[in-house]
Amino acid sequence: MTLHCENISFTDLAGQFGTPLYVYSQSALTEAFCAYTSAFSALSPLVCYAVKANGNLSLLKHFAALGSGFDIVSGGELARVLAAGGDAGKTIFSGVGKSEAEIEFALNAGVLCFNVESLPELDRINAVAARLNQTAPISLRINPDVDAKTHPYISTGLKANKFGIAYADAPAAYRHAATLPHLRITGIDCHIGSQLTDLSPLVEACERIVLLVDQLAVEGIALEHIDLGGGIGIVYNNESVPDLAGYARAVDTIIGTRPLKLMLEPGRSLVGNAGTLLTKVEYIKHGEEKNFIIVDAAMNDLMRPALYEAYHHIEAVEPKNIAPISADVVGPICETGDFLAHNRTLACEAGDILAIRSAGAYAASMASNYNTRNRAAEVWVNGSQARLVRQRESFEQQMANETACL
Ligand code: LLP
Repeated sequence: MTLHCENISFTDLAGQFGTPLYVYSQSALTEAFCAYTSAFSALSPLVCYAVKANGNLSLLKHFAALGSGFDIVSGGELARVLAAGGDAGKTIFSGVGKSEAEIEFALNAGVLCFNVESLPELDRINAVAARLNQTAPISLRINPDVDAKTHPYISTGLKANKFGIAYADAPAAYRHAATLPHLRITGIDCHIGSQLTDLSPLVEACERIVLLVDQLAVEGIALEHIDLGGGIGIVYNNESVPDLAGYARAVDTIIGTRPLKLMLEPGRSLVGNAGTLLTKVEYIKHGEEKNFIIVDAAMNDLMRPALYEAYHHIEAVEPKNIAPISADVVGPICETGDFLAHNRTLACEAGDILAIRSAGAYAASMASNYNTRNRAAEVWVNGSQARLVRQRESFEQQMANETACL
């Protein structure tokens, strides 16, 4: 049977919009968002979608309409949230390297809070707020030193990582923040890593953070909110992923009767499996040792296999009754690292369309122009309706900011 996104076949989408093409399912996005709000309903959390996973404006607008807040890590992401009609008052600003200009932009926009990652950043936010005659709401990102048991490049909560303030230094950092007149301490935050397939590190991090909340309360520093960072992992292949309801129950038990507002910053689990990258087979090449399925998508469209050796499931959109071959699925980029999959068995031939699954998160948002490839178009599917939500880039757009003046 031909593969579909909602009621539209991928064959039709590839025919209408061309390839490579990211396709997003509105119902899958809605379902993923509601999975969080319903699992955590007892705690009425503010779900702040992590824009870095996919910043497409239509997607942000859709989440805003569902009541989502946003987790941003740059002025650019704030500009996207505002352009999509998102509420700055539900937006939290994370990241280790906020510039003065970004802090000013966020303060003027009226963000909900800054997740602060170091003492110099506290001082900088205080100084910018003083200059603007404002008070900046802040939360400290504390590194709970918990092993997230994920790929080292996306593990962020260990002592060796650049993120957050060391757990042992947290009380002193809060005391320092309390002396800065243009800051208002509102919360505490942590984020231990991404693509988490085990619940225990998440629960352990929550326990450690709540322990700190209690210690700070004794010192007279009362926090209003606790932010547990990113969401759970998703199924790319055959991994088992944590049960959201179980996570919610554990958090509810740990928070108990403390009057703490809960915030979450899921990215991947809200969008990852709502997206598919369609690509056309250009050639089948029988190499000396291996076969290669050369497609028109490449590492610039989906960097995850090259960067993390990540697995993305690949299927032929129109199943064919031909002999399957075992092959690497590779792009046209001049790098050995330009692969989308190694050693897959696929029944396809030149001209066929392949669906690369789980491409809603960290795919389009990590795309580049390497080899002067235009960034791919993005399409939004709602039932039987498909809309272009990002045009395919043109060569003119790529070169627009350059001059050949020498
Ligand atoms: N909050 C903070 C502060 C983060 O750093 C991240 C992700 C999130 C939230 C969202 O986490 P999620 O719910 O998506 O797990 N490019 C990598 C993933 C990098 C994640 C970085 N931080 C990948 O493709 O796997």
